[in-house]
Amino acid sequence: MNHQATVAASRAVPATSTSPARIRVQGLGKCYGTLEVFRDVHMDVGDREIVAIVGPSGCGKTTLLRCIDGLVPPSAGKVDISGTEVTAPVPGVAMVFQQFGLFPWKTVFNNVAYGLKLAGVAKGEIRERVPKFIKLVGLAGFEDAYPYQLSGGMQQRCGLARALAIEPNVLLMDEPFAAVDAQTREILQFELLRIWQMRPTSMVFVTHSIEEAVLMGHRVVVLKGRPATVFETITVDLPFPRSRETLTLPRFATLREHVWTTLMDEARAAELQLQR
Ligand SMILES: Nc1ncnc2c1ncn2[C@@H]1O[C@H](COP(=O)(O)OP(=O)(O)O)[C@@H](O)[C@H]1O
Ligand SMILES: [Mg+2]
Repeated sequence: MNHQATVAASRAVPATSTSPARIRVQGLGKCYGTLEVFRDVHMDVGDREIVAIVGPSGCGKTTLLRCIDGLVPPSAGKVDISGTEVTAPVPGVAMVFQQFGLFPWKTVFNNVAYGLKLAGVAKGEIRERVPKFIKLVGLAGFEDAYPYQLSGGMQQRCGLARALAIEPNVLLMDEPFAAVDAQTREILQFELLRIWQMRPTSMVFVTHSIEEAVLMGHRVVVLKGRPATVFETITVDLPFPRSRETLTLPRFATLREHVWTTLMDEARAAELQLQR
């Protein structure tokens, strides 16, 4: 089958017509010493848009998120959030990490409250707001538990509640479900979609799962090459709200196969290079 013919794909990155770009990445490059990780990355993320990023391990996905959240300075180009260039961490931007990133000595309540305390939110308001977000992610009753008392899935629910509690307008997710088992992962994917549907934000969702990228994203950005760059941006024209049923749609399979083929060409080339 000729996937190119059946998939709406574009190497130029279109600005979303439905909403203004909340995040605008322009000509971004990053070097660590002599290692050029990525080059000339362009990407727009709309106000209520989920952009999934896939790419081989080491292509710079985490580094790209770090440039967006202001913790890693780019070597070239720039990132704008809400029209202002990012030069340091920006309020309203939250990150969810692969390894949950919880404080082991803090309870669920205090982990979720952390960002609010940092932002100087009054104690009374914290007491009011935190339980709402704990409930939203399905952790009601676990307010006083410590991370070690929770399963991986519950720890990531806590990580998600902590990110959501600051009511971010930009949510950055770095392979958030990579460390949990397959069933939990599926549950959390649909939970996240449900929550996003209730409070749509601008979301960048990094994953190495092609299926997850197509399920979550309005668009999928494929990074590839050495140095990496945006090889292709695929519009995922599957209806929202997405559900388990989405996974059974023929269109889902077509899009998944398209992304798979794009990435596998790269993996094969990398393997051949190793053999030489
Ligand atoms: N702080 C750093 N110093 C030097 N090299 C780094 C640093 N962070 C990441 N790298 C390198 O940059 C490349 C991209 O890393 P990363 O962004 O973690 O990729 P990915 O998330 O796609 O797996 C890798 O080769 C990694 O070793
Ligand atoms: Mg990474």
